[in-house]
Amino acid sequence: MNTFGLQARFLVPLLMTLVVTAYLALPVLDRLTLRWFSRDLNLRGELVTDSLTDSIIDGLDENNLSRLSLAFERVARDERLVAVGLCSPSDDLILHTKAFPRSIGCREAREIAGQPYPQIEIAGGSVHVGFHNISSVEGVAARLILLHDLSFIERRSLDTRHYLVTLLALLGVVVALITIVVAQFMWRGWIASARALLDNGGLADVKTLAASEFAPLAADLRARLRDLEDEFRRSLGPELEWNPARLRSLLHTQLRGDEVLVVSNREPYIHDTQEGGVMVRQPASGLVTAVEPVMRACSGTWIAHGSGSADRLVVDAQSRVRVPPGSEEYTLRRIWLTPEEEQGYYYGFANEGLWPLCHVAHVRPTFREADWERYREINQRFADAVVAEARSEDPVVLVQDYHFALLPAMIRAQLPKATILTFWHIPWPNPESFGICPWRREILQGMLGSTILGFHTRFHCKNFIETVDRYLEARIEHEHSIISYQDDETLIESYPISIEWPSEKTAASWPSIAECRQSVCRRLGLPETVRLAIGVDRFDYTKGILERLNAVERLLEKHPEWCGRFVFVQVAAPSRSTLEEYRNFQDRIEQLTARINARFGRSDYLPIILLARHHDHHAVTELYRAAEICLVTSLHDGMNLVCKEFVAARDDERGVLILSRFAGAAREMTEALIVNPYHVEESADALHKALLMPLPEQRERMASLRMTVREFNVYRWAGRMLADAGRSRLRRRIEARVERHRHT
Ligand code: G6P
Repeated sequence: MNTFGLQARFLVPLLMTLVVTAYLALPVLDRLTLRWFSRDLNLRGELVTDSLTDSIIDGLDENNLSRLSLAFERVARDERLVAVGLCSPSDDLILHTKAFPRSIGCREAREIAGQPYPQIEIAGGSVHVGFHNISSVEGVAARLILLHDLSFIERRSLDTRHYLVTLLALLGVVVALITIVVAQFMWRGWIASARALLDNGGLADVKTLAASEFAPLAADLRARLRDLEDEFRRSLGPELEWNPARLRSLLHTQLRGDEVLVVSNREPYIHDTQEGGVMVRQPASGLVTAVEPVMRACSGTWIAHGSGSADRLVVDAQSRVRVPPGSEEYTLRRIWLTPEEEQGYYYGFANEGLWPLCHVAHVRPTFREADWERYREINQRFADAVVAEARSEDPVVLVQDYHFALLPAMIRAQLPKATILTFWHIPWPNPESFGICPWRREILQGMLGSTILGFHTRFHCKNFIETVDRYLEARIEHEHSIISYQDDETLIESYPISIEWPSEKTAASWPSIAECRQSVCRRLGLPETVRLAIGVDRFDYTKGILERLNAVERLLEKHPEWCGRFVFVQVAAPSRSTLEEYRNFQDRIEQLTARINARFGRSDYLPIILLARHHDHHAVTELYRAAEICLVTSLHDGMNLVCKEFVAARDDERGVLILSRFAGAAREMTEALIVNPYHVEESADALHKALLMPLPEQRERMASLRMTVREFNVYRWAGRMLADAGRSRLRRRIEARVERHRHT
């Protein structure tokens, strides 16, 4: 609608109001003026009566009516006095002027004069009737009828009407003009504000907007614009979805089908002897969750520690086995360690030294010379295995995690043309924290054997670059995040890891949400009306499980209404249990659970259920789908994939994620309820808020989280790293050709 249309919307009612006002006001005004004039005429009549009283009394006394008649005719010469009549005390008309109408007698005159508007119509027009007593000492001697002309009053009333109508019309015109001018200015201001808002996407010029009349609308408009944008983005889906096929095609185009080798400590499939047979299982490991689908897409060889009790039984003479069992898409090459080697390299240096060193979770790192020696030896053993498995001089080697800080330089020494991508799955601390490690220089030198060194977040990259800057003589190109150390260049880059987004076929195979809930409630002996929250972790002190239990206790303290209605299920897979720190941690969790259950539990109700055993992917998915809340409260975590798995499992777009601000995932998953796990009150409040969160808000948050995880899936993580590797290989090939030409 244009500005005139808008003004017309305002002006038409205004003008109509003025017309109606005039229509209603005029009769009121008429009556008012008539009353005023009646009062004036009555007063005037009193005056005339007073001036005639003596003459009338004398005339009656002397019975000289002809003199009286002359006096009456003289008085009636006044243009406003139409006629005069005289009545006897018994109401007989005894004398009147010539113009006195025959139709009026003394009785009629008395009656009319007693009315609020004492007027009648006669042949010449309207007249006002006055009936006045002529009093003598003996009492009322006679009564005087005075008929006043009212036509002049009508003329005045008409004049007043004209003035009033003209005034209202003028007023209407003036108001209309002012409205048009003001509306034009306001309209222009609004249009300018709206334009500023649209032009800047609602981000710039916020001050101007806040000061304008547009301010109350600006927030709504901005929110609506964002909603539309979100809807649009969601409707488009991921720009170009990352999936196994795209990763495979990237391997063929950018890496020309080159061989891919993965090295990690934890193997993707563990064979164990159980009940007389061999059972295979997947371990609880974020690394395995992420890398396994990538390996299925690339084929290649995965080199890992064979830790299962039946691992040796299923491998060939070269310690190889094809996995996954049944579909056999890639080769798993197992490396054997003695218990002493595992103790020193894995439990000792990796998990008692580097793990607490990098997580800064208030557990002191322990560094032992002997562990360090084992760590070096085993890194060398894995490096030799890589060289043995490589079919070319320049394979792509994906080195995984803190178990292999020395491996990149060791591989580089034997395969100088290899492209080595190292991914550090845990946080990297600041230089001061890292500086307490006695072998800090060796570790950094080992890692800088990588072509590309990846962390989950920019923050960890920055910490690493600063650490190198502090402890090594290296050249750092901050602009490109490249470290040059002893003729080798390493690109330091962030690649946020993720999960494989469930395919439509996988999602269709899941039992419905209601079925999952029924099955979980049945298994745990819970009523189906229960409000369920879930935590899924390894028993690890970095996961904030104690803090989470404290938050549950505080919730029940603050909001006793949840007692009996709310249950928190913690799945905790035993992990690194030969370490005292881990055993103590498990004990503390069990004790705290028992204490809280004793405090708030009843014969038929326990607020916390601790499931201290490994759950396979299927069982965890069922729990994710049955629960209304997922709690991830890590004290420090590289990324954390539990939160992403929970979101992927919620195809009903319901459920609330509570996420620690100290997990790398918090940077991407901003629609979760973000908490500081050290602040018990805040986590308890987040639980309460999650329990009360309306479904539309849950849906809004969950839909957005799902869009993020779907788009930033594990194939994108691997794809970005491999694409960077492809570019680096291309550059090296070109450099080699240039070098050859120079020498020919
Ligand atoms: C973290 C590490 C992984 C490790 C996993 C399980 O996610 O980054 O490298 O595999 O914990 O720990 P575990 O010691 O059992 O392999």
